[in-house]
This record gives sequence, structure tokens and C-alpha cells, in this order.
Amino acid sequence: MIHTVIHSSARDVAEAVALFLAECLQEDPGLVLGLPTGRTPVPMYRALVRLHRQGHADFSSATTFNLDEFVGLPAGHPGSYRAFMQRHLFAHVNLNSAQTHLPHGGAANPRAEAARYDAAIGAAGGLDIAILGIGANGHIGFNEPAASLPARTNVVALRPGTRAANAAAFGGRASRVPVRAISMGVGTILSARHVLLLATGADKADIVAKALRGPVTTRVPASLLQLHPRAAVVLDRAAAKKLTSYC
Ligand code: F6R
Repeated sequence: MIHTVIHSSARDVAEAVALFLAECLQEDPGLVLGLPTGRTPVPMYRALVRLHRQGHADFSSATTFNLDEFVGLPAGHPGSYRAFMQRHLFAHVNLNSAQTHLPHGGAANPRAEAARYDAAIGAAGGLDIAILGIGANGHIGFNEPAASLPARTNVVALRPGTRAANAAAFGGRASRVPVRAISMGVGTILSARHVLLLATGADKADIVAKALRGPVTTRVPASLLQLHPRAAVVLDRAAAKKLTSYC
């Protein structure tokens, strides 16, 4: 069973995970981190920035690879995940910008870009810690539920619900959210030495229960984490509330 930690609030989840990451960085300053975007990690990034300002989190030797990026946005587009990371983390800590990686969503050949990105993760020695959120449909990265899933970083089609969930950065219009993304594949994610999935809020309670207690299936991509020997899930009480009743 996946190691599960439940905190009383989303804020406590953020503080605990940020502190854990700061400690990991103290032990191994050259960590290679897999990073998520979205609503869930924002408080964690805020806590990490605070720890950095207090002198407790040094990113100077760390390397980051984000899980995904939208295809087709021009460089610097405010809705891009590169812009998100800049706003929430990169601009505020001492990461070397050459060591912060996201797929180039504007690449002329997105498939070739996906292959290049996967190779770059390999060349960096793979991910030490992959930090993940979970979509309401169970996606990790942008690996949407399907009969089969790409093992390696690939170009993926986004489901309408996923585009709607990302509409805020596109003037609230789901129709403006790109239809494709480049996402780390599930094999790339599962190759990380440690995986940490964060989920907060009552709207994640059903999918968290399915992913952690249900069968392992590509129809719930996060359920594949049950196969990882060092995966942990950090939840607030609201996201954990269906765990006990699930059967
Ligand atoms: C984002 C990502 C996605 C999100 C998921 C949850 O980089 O890979 O899997 O983690 O869609 O998003 P939020 O946190 O906004 O609910």
C-alpha cells in the first residue's frame, strides 16, 4: 500500500512537503526534481520561497524538470507552464536558469521535442524526486485515462475537463486552452527514485480513493503509483475523506 500522510489542511500539506524538500536539498544539493504546476502546488512553492529567503532551502546546485507544457504557445505566453513556474518559484529562488527545464511547447516538431526532453532527463541521471498533482480524472502529468499510456515523454491530447480546469490562465475560456501538451510519460515518472503525490480539497477525494485503493489501471493513471516502491501521497483531510469508506 502506498505510504499515505494526512495533514489537517492544505497549508499543512504545503509546509510539510516544502520542509521535506528543503531537508532533501541540504542532504543532496544536486537533486534532480520533477515539478508540477496547477492549483495544488502553489502553497508549496510559496513555502519553499519562504524557506529559501530564510536561508533553509538552497537550490543553487539543483536541477528541475517540469512534468508538462502546452503545445503551440509562443515563448513567454502568460498561460504557459514556463510562465507559471517563473511566477511561483523560479523568479524567487537561486535556481540556475540553465538547470530549469520544461518541454518547449513552441517547438516546430513537438514529438521530436518530447524525445529530446526525455533524453535530457536521462542525461541528468533521472529524477530523484517526482512531485505530482492528480487530475480529477486521475491523470498524472498530462497522461489522461486511456486503454494504454505512453511510457516516455510524448505529445498527448488533453481531455475537455482538463482544458476547462486550466481555463483560468486563458481568460477563463476553456476553448483557448491548447488541445495538446508534451507530458512526461508514466514510465519516466515511475523511474523517479521517489514519487510524492499531493492532493488537497474535497474535489479530489473520489479520485484519490480510486487511485490509492482501487485496481491498478491505465484508466486511472495515478493508480500506477501503487507499483512504485517508494511512492508517498500527502493529503489534507478533505482529499482523504473517502479513503476509509472505499472498497
Ligand atoms: C500539472 C500536471 C497535472 C496537475 C493536475 C492537478 O503540471 O501535471 O497533472 O497536477 O491536473 O491540477 P490541480 O493541482 O490544479 O488540481
